[in-house]
Amino acid sequence: MILTETELVQWGRRIGGEVEAPIFLGLRGPLGAGKSVLARSIARGAGVEGALPSPTFNLLFRYQGESGTEVAHLDLYRLRDPEELWELGWEELGQGAEIVLVEWPERAGSHLPDDRWDIELSVPDPGANVRAVQVHRVGAPPHLPGFPVSLAGR
Ligand SMILES: Nc1ncnc2c1ncn2[C@@H]1O[C@H](COP(=O)(O)OP(=O)(O)O)[C@@H](O)[C@H]1O
Ligand SMILES: [Mg+2]
Repeated sequence: MILTETELVQWGRRIGGEVEAPIFLGLRGPLGAGKSVLARSIARGAGVEGALPSPTFNLLFRYQGESGTEVAHLDLYRLRDPEELWELGWEELGQGAEIVLVEWPERAGSHLPDDRWDIELSVPDPGANVRAVQVHRVGAPPHLPGFPVSLAGR
């Protein structure tokens, strides 16, 4: 599926508003692919208000959404060793009703949860503001809302 930024944001908001937490989403793709754009949209959809800074240096931000849903946004790009995950409180993530969004999940090595969605973003045409999106289910995660109905049949 090829999505404009508006469409990706729309899908993210829908995910944030509709998913059953806990749920783990790995956001893959090169720098500038739109992982943070998608993560912020999901947080907004879950009712998170206020600033949503990039976790590039902090690696982890946690937010309170609506009706008890929490959102954890991680960017593991700067993780040097999967063992550093324990300092971040990795094992506590997703224990409650939390949407866990992880950019560069491959940096976590074998510590990724067995049940998750991997969302892969890529840039099919550097001249156009669109992104190719591929969704892979791993194990048995909760349902992930599909792309907005308005996009069907494109
Ligand atoms: N279709 C699209 N979806 C998402 N981002 C897009 C799209 N088209 C252009 N962009 C731009 O690409 C950049 C993506 O940045 P970001 O989400 O920080 O990337 P990443 O977190 O993957 O490194 C933003 O500047 C955004 O405005
Ligand atoms: Mg990012």
